[in-house]
Amino acid sequence: MTHALPADARPLLVRAPGAPLSGRIRVPGDKSISHRALMFAGLAWGETRIDGLLEGEDVLRTAAAMRALGAEIRREGDGRWVVRGAGLGRLREPEDVLDMGNSGTAARLLAGILASHGLHSVMTGDASLRRRPMARVIGPLAGTGAVFASREGGRLPLSISGRADPAPLHVRMQVASAQVKSAVLLAGLNAPGETVVEEPVPTRDHSENMLRHFGADLSVETDGAGGRLIRLQGRPTLIARDVSVPSDPSSAAFPLVAALLVPGSEVLIEAVGLNPLRTGLFTTLREMGAALAIENERIEGGEPVGDLLVRASALRGVVVPAQRAPSMIDEYPVLAVAAAFAEGETRMCGLDELRVKESDRLSATVALLQANGAQVRVEGDDMIVVGRGASALGGGEVRTQMDHRLAMSGVVMGLAAGRPVAVDDVAFIDTSFPGFVPLMNALGAGLSA
Ligand code: S3P
Repeated sequence: MTHALPADARPLLVRAPGAPLSGRIRVPGDKSISHRALMFAGLAWGETRIDGLLEGEDVLRTAAAMRALGAEIRREGDGRWVVRGAGLGRLREPEDVLDMGNSGTAARLLAGILASHGLHSVMTGDASLRRRPMARVIGPLAGTGAVFASREGGRLPLSISGRADPAPLHVRMQVASAQVKSAVLLAGLNAPGETVVEEPVPTRDHSENMLRHFGADLSVETDGAGGRLIRLQGRPTLIARDVSVPSDPSSAAFPLVAALLVPGSEVLIEAVGLNPLRTGLFTTLREMGAALAIENERIEGGEPVGDLLVRASALRGVVVPAQRAPSMIDEYPVLAVAAAFAEGETRMCGLDELRVKESDRLSATVALLQANGAQVRVEGDDMIVVGRGASALGGGEVRTQMDHRLAMSGVVMGLAAGRPVAVDDVAFIDTSFPGFVPLMNALGAGLSA
């Protein structure tokens, strides 16, 4: 692993604010739902209005790719976007390489669209994305008849010769991945007949919800043990439908944990998405003793949302079961920071998927904690953190390795620890949480960048 920093790296030295965090904030739109809104709207007939779209780098890459495929996409104001779809089966061949930047979701979901249209395309990404495995989508998508050529190990750049007459797929998921599931469903859209996904462990179901929203015929059967059988009838007429994007629970996680750890804090985070397949962190923090209340629960744009009221709390260690991992897969770095301040041991089980995120998040989180005086070890796929007092923590550097969530976790560590924490690069935070530093400052974080 190289530690070379990009030329435009933005380091940040984070100190405890010395006073409670307080106030009422709204975090940006959900990243998963934002990608999907642009893709499904781009495949639909007519004009879709999207409200609350996340305007982070990752989602802007999806917008650019869908434009290159023939969708008309324009921004009307803050988070307000309008998409005139190209229509399913009617995409245009992109003239140039599609650069998906830092975004695994954009690359993997788009692969499903590209495989199932009669066009040739090449996809690449930044140094982090070019290291991430694409074989997990290439394998199932090859069943459409599309032809893929990638670098060794299924890495980007990837060329795809898609099929105008793709075969429908029947896939039993080998990894618990909403990205792989969504790639298969997107490919199945343009295939005649029924596409089936068997999901032994459920993952976020935003694609299923949004497919129904745009008029696809999709059914989900559950097997009592949590497993799901998803059936999608191919070649639906997708009709433009307005989409309202809730705030991202994975982004809310950072001010939430900061408020739990900075003594005396009280913060309200408005209109956070509460899809039950995304809320594993909230369940876990409550088990740890967090004063976390959900107020004003309601349905907005087909997804449950609520306001999170959080007060600084003394946390205690817990065991986080492996089955919960898909519902909080992006939240482990910041949960590990919380665990470093908790009383006793926190064991987070079944974290193998963390090794293939924007960085190897398992080893990067261990390094973040170790550099800042926390006790942490890995046993198999479990991460175990033994908590200690704030005065024993901090004083180290966090190497973010082009990973936005490590950067934000490093900031949270610095706000709560007794000694300052140097985060080597906060620039990548913009991929998922533009405006993170000013928003934290509105709560009194006193960050200087
Ligand atoms: C996502 C799914 C998750 C998550 C990623 C977004 C999605 O990845 O880590 O940030 O939008 O489907 P996997 O499904 O590969 O675990």
